Amino acid sequence: MESMTFVLFGATGDLAKRKIFPALYNLYIDQKVPSALSVIGLGMDEMTLADFHQHVKDAVTSFSRRDPSEKELQAFLEKIVYTTLDAKKEDDYIKLLQLVEEQEKAYDIPGNRLFYLSVAPMFFDTIALHIKKSGLGSTKGFKRLIIEKPFGHDVESAQELNNHLNHAFEEEEIYRIDHYLGKPMVQNLEALEFANPVLQALWNNQYIANVQITASETVGVEKRAGYYDGAGAIRDMFQNHMLQLLMMTAMHLPKKICASDIRDEKRKVIESLRPLTSTDIQQSVVRGQYGAGEIKGKTVPAYTDEPGVKEHSQTDTFVAARLWIDNEFWQGVPFYIRTGKRLSEKSTRIVIEFKNPLKDLYVDQNQEVAPNLFVIQINPNESMSLQLNSKNPLKNGQLETVSIHFSSDQDEIPEAYERLIYDVFRGDSTFFAHWKEVELAWKWIDPLLQAFQNNTLPLNTYEAGTNGPKEADELVQKDGFTWWTGK
Ligand code: BG6
Repeated sequence: MESMTFVLFGATGDLAKRKIFPALYNLYIDQKVPSALSVIGLGMDEMTLADFHQHVKDAVTSFSRRDPSEKELQAFLEKIVYTTLDAKKEDDYIKLLQLVEEQEKAYDIPGNRLFYLSVAPMFFDTIALHIKKSGLGSTKGFKRLIIEKPFGHDVESAQELNNHLNHAFEEEEIYRIDHYLGKPMVQNLEALEFANPVLQALWNNQYIANVQITASETVGVEKRAGYYDGAGAIRDMFQNHMLQLLMMTAMHLPKKICASDIRDEKRKVIESLRPLTSTDIQQSVVRGQYGAGEIKGKTVPAYTDEPGVKEHSQTDTFVAARLWIDNEFWQGVPFYIRTGKRLSEKSTRIVIEFKNPLKDLYVDQNQEVAPNLFVIQINPNESMSLQLNSKNPLKNGQLETVSIHFSSDQDEIPEAYERLIYDVFRGDSTFFAHWKEVELAWKWIDPLLQAFQNNTLPLNTYEAGTNGPKEADELVQKDGFTWWTGK
């Protein structure tokens, strides 16, 4: 791994505290950082180095998956410096360049620079512009940029943002984090589909009846109403995480297991996603918003009663949709996707329901053959199981479903941010969103955004603590299916 300077914008912010510093610390402990690494934290607040180190120490102590040892923490902190930066001030970037060059000299780093923008998206273009103008981006080593969603608010704003970023960075230098792509079981989808001939042979419309992708949460809008009320589930989860899960599930065997081929295959999926007409939207999309209810024995307020949410807000906190992929592998297979807040459980999973031509084989014995299901549990626990039919000798050979189950050991697994930052250190962009995927995803959901904004699709209220609006169940039932819980 090549040595580099890691320049972190927003180093005193929430994401840095909860995710980035704990991830860096764990990577350091696992010796997965470059041998020469200098971390420069940037923030608006005046802070002494000692104060900033204390801040990082608190962050690691509170949020790292490991209990840090004092000695290792001290050694880790030695790699970190801090300076103030006002994103809009040109002079501050000149000072930053000087500091970067000093660090490069001190650590013998050949100009490799990694910029992480852990700041509000409204600063992305200003920072990119100044990185170029100040000369920070003109280096003899490599440069890389990490940014976090939201990548725009709709297709136009996303394109505008991307154009700004492209003034300073090439597409190959940009790493767009979608933290779902950092989840081990999501990364594992590729191996499940491609390294197992048994599954690969069945991974198409000849054998699969439908695919269900669910991301349900029990939390509500929390303290993020300012952002969420303008975004809704459609922008917060559907446009990015859910469509990424869809691409990862439906992509076809790439020629090679490498970033460019995998991302090509993902892009082909979203290119084949059937556009939704206004009639399709009425028939295939369900929009919901949570009302008051009870979660784990606690009464919770309706979305519109949450602090910071606009009165009479029409923002969606739940979206379910039926999608079709018009290519030779998936023609005729419905993909059902749903995501929502304040639902009955926290669970992200993909359920593959196989076709069941033998359903009636045991009809003379008064028994029905259940469909085979392949359940990939992504969150909170990682597991996979294959549901098969088997005879129970204790019940006169009655058919029962049994499950072949695998779950991995949770404690030792690196967090999504660890895996993703490690990939950026190594220059591997496989599990980052390519601009084409992002743009096509915005284009595809655009008619939905219009329908939501113009209120041409009903907003169904659902009670907090349930599985969402009953219309989402009907969406699947009218095709003769049911949502599988995966249990
Ligand atoms: C974030 C969304 O991207 O993902 C949040 O902004 C959501 O609203 C979160 O709660 C869910 O992530 P996870 O990893 O808990 O499923």
